[in-house]
Amino acid sequence: MGRAAVLTGIGSTVPEQVVTNDMLAARMDTSDEWIRSRTGIRERRRVGVGTATSDLAVEAGRRALKSAGVESVDALVLATTTPDHPCPATAPTVASGLGLGPIPAFDVAAVCSGFLYAMATAAGLISLGTADRVLVVGAEAFTTIIDPDDRNTAPIFGDGAGAVVLTAGHQSDRGALLAFDLGADGDLADLIVVPAGGSRQRTSGVEPGPTDHFMKMQGRTVFVNAVNRMTESSRTVLRRTGWDPGSVDWLVGHQANVRILHAVADQLDLPGERAFVNVDSVGNTAAASIPLALDDAARAGRLAPGDRVVLTAFGGGATWGAITLEWPDLAAL
Ligand code: COA
Repeated sequence: MGRAAVLTGIGSTVPEQVVTNDMLAARMDTSDEWIRSRTGIRERRRVGVGTATSDLAVEAGRRALKSAGVESVDALVLATTTPDHPCPATAPTVASGLGLGPIPAFDVAAVCSGFLYAMATAAGLISLGTADRVLVVGAEAFTTIIDPDDRNTAPIFGDGAGAVVLTAGHQSDRGALLAFDLGADGDLADLIVVPAGGSRQRTSGVEPGPTDHFMKMQGRTVFVNAVNRMTESSRTVLRRTGWDPGSVDWLVGHQANVRILHAVADQLDLPGERAFVNVDSVGNTAAASIPLALDDAARAGRLAPGDRVVLTAFGGGATWGAITLEWPDLAAL
């Protein structure tokens, strides 16, 4: 049996501050009814001033290490869209905050698909023998790039972090990452974009407009692409794993919108109940979304050892991906 990356620990955290739909409706032209019916979101969490992505990442990482029963790893991969600074990467700060020593630590940027890209990168390090144990974190202070007055985005996004420990093992181990699919299409880069703050707008000499540091999203087009790509990517990993779609116990999709999750389940001929949903309480937390969902599902006892799980995501870039695994017997704390 080949060397494989096996999920052996999980943890997550969300900031304390709750933002309800009614709080948003008090500020902009929207309503609790509209947000619930179009997205499934009831509330989301927001970081307070002074809390950065690395603070959330350290807490989620600490919990994942505890769940795995380990104090050290050989590498740290952080998926984020909202690094503490444009330079340097945030992962070394997280490794330092966790007291992990001078291990390799780097960021992966694939927006809402970032965690799956980071998992695949970590699994590559393990397969090559470069690392025996890797901490993979998805963390976002996403509300820091959201225009608080933009009703197209403010109701959707929230903050949080999730992390997993991947350990070298065998393909036959429960928790082994079994198949991967990743993709990207830069022709769709404009669907989700923060116009200013990078080299493009800086070097062109264009003065940023008042909201150019905030994310803009073409919601309807994102919706259609998300359903199609997440469905196709899920089908690809199911085929590679040799699983019949109907045998899947849990579809843990990127928590963008409950309608997207149900549409993907529907396309895969899975009953809607097998699509795990926690977007109602945390909103779309981008790169943190999948590990947060997994940890919520595990702590609620909804994921049982041996369950067949498909992870899938779509995000800015455009990027997408999917991974299959059988849920391991681990401590969700
Ligand atoms: N409150 C009230 N009305 C709103 C609104 C809000 N917050 N946002 C938009 N509307 C209005 C629109 O102006 C439009 O009005 P019109 O028909 O008079 O023009 C109407 O609601 C429908 O807008 P539309 O954009 O077509 O709604 P939708 O059903 O596509 O839902 C999203 C919008 C953003 C919720 C949905 O497209 C979505 O979830 N997209 C994916 C977003 C995502 O998850 N992105 C992250 C990366 S995966």
